[in-house]
Formats: sequence, structure tokens, C-alpha cells
Amino acid sequence: MINSLTLFVTYIKNFKVLNQVRCASQVLPQFSSEKYKVKRKPFGTIEASDVDYFKTVLSEDRVLTDDNDVLPFNIDWIKNCRGQSKLVLKPKTTQEVSTILKYCNQKRLAVCPQGGNTGLVGGSVPVFDEIVLSFMLMNKIISFDEISGALICEAGCILENLDNYVRERNLIMPLDLGAKGSCHIGGNISTNAGGLRLLRYGNLHGSVLGVEAVKADGTVIDCLKSLKKDNTGYHLKHLFIGSEGTLGLVTKVAIHCPALPKAVSVGFFGVEKFEDILRLYANAKSSLGEILSAFEMADNDSISSTAKNLKLPNPISDYPFYVLLETHGSDEAHDSEKLTRFLEKEMESGLILDGTVTSDPAKMQTIWNLRENIAAAGLVEGYMFKYDVSLPLRNYYSLVPLLRQRLGAKASRVYGYGHVGDGNIHINVIVPKYSPEASSMLEPYIFEEVAKLKGSISAEHGVGFRKPQFIHYSKDANALQLMQQLKQLMDPNGILNPYKVLPEI
Ligand code: FAD
Ligand code: MLT
Ligand code: ZN
Repeated sequence: MINSLTLFVTYIKNFKVLNQVRCASQVLPQFSSEKYKVKRKPFGTIEASDVDYFKTVLSEDRVLTDDNDVLPFNIDWIKNCRGQSKLVLKPKTTQEVSTILKYCNQKRLAVCPQGGNTGLVGGSVPVFDEIVLSFMLMNKIISFDEISGALICEAGCILENLDNYVRERNLIMPLDLGAKGSCHIGGNISTNAGGLRLLRYGNLHGSVLGVEAVKADGTVIDCLKSLKKDNTGYHLKHLFIGSEGTLGLVTKVAIHCPALPKAVSVGFFGVEKFEDILRLYANAKSSLGEILSAFEMADNDSISSTAKNLKLPNPISDYPFYVLLETHGSDEAHDSEKLTRFLEKEMESGLILDGTVTSDPAKMQTIWNLRENIAAAGLVEGYMFKYDVSLPLRNYYSLVPLLRQRLGAKASRVYGYGHVGDGNIHINVIVPKYSPEASSMLEPYIFEEVAKLKGSISAEHGVGFRKPQFIHYSKDANALQLMQQLKQLMDPNGILNPYKVLPEI
């Protein structure tokens, strides 16, 4: 297998360069309000006296008003959205968050909470002049119980830092994703992030033990218990998991960390057709059982463009589809033997055309790099329309050929990849340049197709700013009405992350 630590180092450099290029680019995205024709709601506008007030609550260096300082907080990772905020606040404590919100609520000043700003649906950046409340300085670990695995920390802790911390103590974070080096645990919870190992460790509704959150009026809701069982009344923590900063701001988190697996192996396989991936998935579940920790797929376009754009090595040659399979177990010899036997058997059956199995950390990283960087690799090619849908497995890949046919030469590339184990496919459509025509060929068409197949228009990235007008494809009218009522109850002035998640009534 082609691989070396040097290649990994090159990748890290590439990734950093890519990020720098992205941030330093002079081509700024169009304002979201113009691009998507949104009308500003009648919120208050920020006066000099408001800024002075915030400087009494926070130290001056934690109140940003300079255009250059504020700009990165106005643009999302994928560069689809751009807000016009003039003010970023960086609280360090729950009390500061509470004081800020109480003031904003009284003055009807809208607020956009922001974690690592890696969200992919425009939820993390303002649309107009909402105040950005950044959690970047709320990054302390509060306590860790190595026996129960309960970690309590502030919302602005970076996922990778938390993972490194608990790994040193023989546990891991229950979620992992390509954005781990930047995303915050508070952002993960607010989006109900899924990630690469949901198949094994479940979703955040299961692993989050408790949260502390601040309501729009500044009231602190303390549900920060780190108990596995607590049936005292309504399970309020779930309201904050996945509500994308529209019901309250998550300030602290209690989360359960599973044991560090003693043995990890990764297989990377070339496959002829999508139907074979489904058969492989069924066989992997039965052959590998409890040690299966990830079952990811990517089509040829996903892998070849990532390898080419980011100069990453592909350890096997060109195939129509790829499967990345991972095991987390306790016996390296036993697990890698099990995986090798699986590879041999499925090569014999013809489902796997070629493949490699490894337990070497650097080689496993090389394979994961290819998968985790598919999103980043697309950014260098043009404008990216990004979809994140759940579909019944038999229809998992069906929208990719459909969209290729529909867009024809208008798209430079249409490709699909994702978390097969979760029925979640990501479909990226690259066009040379954004145009409303390309947009109208895709939307609402793709959401109509998802609804016909009884899927969900958002599997893990959320609704954010980009999809409220399409949420009815996945939620019925009564469910939406209850959501509106909850919003009205918890944030009657609508100051928390306006223009996001819920459609206009
Ligand atoms: P942000 O992007 O800053 O915010 C996301 C949303 O949460 C916004 O609506 C924001 O207002 C709100 N928010 C943030 N912090 C708080 C808070 N403390 N309280 C209240 N609201 C808050 N997602 C997946 O599910 N699975 C993946 O595998 C995955 N991989 C990714 C890979 C890459 C390369 C990238 C760029 C993104 C990926 N994402 C994935 C999308 C994204 O949801 C996650 O990166 C992450 O959960 C967002 O965290 P964040 O801290 O960056 O939040
Ligand atoms: C992933 O699975 O890689 C992420 O959800 C990001 C993406 O959609 O590319
Ligand atoms: Zn994903």
C-alpha cells in the first residue's frame, strides 16, 4: 500500500493552505440577504451606546467592531453565505452570556451564536446585522470521571482537543468528523452532528448526558446532570440538541465517552456497483458484528477529485465505488484477521474488486484523509451546492445519476458519498459559478425527490439558513406548528438565530 507519514504531513500542509486560501480569498461571497432575497425583520439596530454597554460586560478586547476582525465571522465555511454583522462578542462565562442575552432581548437585538463556524447550511453566520456571539473563549474542561466516562466541559471546547484529552485517559469522544480540528462541542450539540462512527456509538441524543443553556431572556437552564438515568419530568436537554441555536445557547455540556478501542483496523475496498455496496454492508454486519465502527462509501468522482485536488494518495487504483470500513475492538490480531478474512471472502464472491486492510496508524490515517477531505476538495473546483439527505438504503444512491442527467453539462461534477450505515448520503454538485438558474434546477427538485422516497432533507447538517423553506418536505404541518409554538415560548421576540430552521409563517 502506498503510504508514508510524509504524505500525511503534506496533507496537513495542504489542508492548512486550503484554509488560508479560503479565508484570504479576495472573492467574497454575495450577501445572503441579496442572494436569497430575504427581508430584514424589525429588530433593533446596534448603537454606539450598545457597544459601550457590552464593553462594560466583557473586556474591550472581547468586543470586536473592526470590519476586518468581524469579516471571518460573517462568512460560512462553504462560502455560500455572508452576513453583515458589525459586532462580535466573545463571552468567557455563562454569566456573561446571560447578561448579554438579557440586554439583547430587552432591546430586541438579534443574536447569531457561533461555534467553530464549520456548519454547512449557513446557520452559523448572520444574515443581516445580528450580533455574533462566539463561544471560542468558553473552552475549559470542567471535570472528567474516568470510571463513568462522563466529561463536563464548556461549549467552546474544540472536539479534537477533547478527544486528545480523553484518549490520554483511555476513552474517546463518542463522535468524530472531518471538521474535528475546528468545530466546538457546543456546535456539535446544536447541530446534532452525526459523523463517521454514529453506526457504532449512536447519536448525540444518546451520548449527551446533560446541558446548561441560556434562554433568550438570559435565564440559565441547568440540566447539566452527568447521570445516565434521570427521569424527572420532561427531558429538556433534547430541545437544545439539534435546535441550531434557535431555542437557547448551549454553554456547558456533559457527555458520555466510550472506552478507547485497543485494536483499530481499516479496510478500503474497490467495488463495481452500488448494489454490491449494500450486499457488502449486510455481510459486514453479519461477519464483523459488534466490532464494526464505520461503514462509509464514496463514488469514483468523490475519491478521484479529492486525490487530485488535494494531492492525496489513493492506496488502491481506480474503481467505480469505494467502501471504507473500520473496526473498533479489543484484540488486534483477532480483529485484523477477521477483517482480512472478510476481504478474502468478498473478493472471492466478487463483491470486492480490490482492497487493502491495515492496522498501521499512519496508513489508516491516509485512508481516512481521503474520505474526510471530500468536502474540502470540492471547494477548489467552483461553486458547491451541498445536500445531506437520509434515504432508504435501496434508494441511497439513486439521486446522483438523476441529478447528473438533469444538470447535464451545466454541472462540472455531481458526486455522492456518505455514511451507509446511517442511510445518509452527501451529494455535492459543483458548477463553475453560482447562478439562480442552476439553483432552480436543483431546488426544490431534489427535496421533492427525497420526499417521494420518504427520506429526510437533512440527515445531519441541519436546516440552518438554507433549508427552512423546504422543511415541510420532511415535517408535517402539525409538527411544524408545535415547533413554532416552542420557539414562541422560549424566544418570544425571536432574537435567537433569526431566519434559521423555521419557515416564515
Ligand atoms: P457552527 O458551524 O459554528 O454552528 C452550527 C450551528 O449551531 C449554527 O446554527 C450555530 O448558530 C449553532 N451554534 C453553535 N454553537 C452554539 C452554541 N454553543 N449554542 C447554541 N447554538 C450554537 N456534520 C455532521 O453531522 N457530520 C459530519 O461528518 C460532518 N463533517 C464535516 C466535515 C467538514 C470538513 C465540515 C466543514 C463540516 C462537517 N459537518 C459535519 C458539519 C457541521 O455540523 C459540524 O462541523 C459541526 O457540528 C458544527 O460545529 P461548529 O462548532 O462549527 O458549529
Ligand atoms: C462528511 O460526512 O464528510 C460531512 O458530513 C461533510 C460533507 O458533507 O462533506
Ligand atoms: Zn457526513
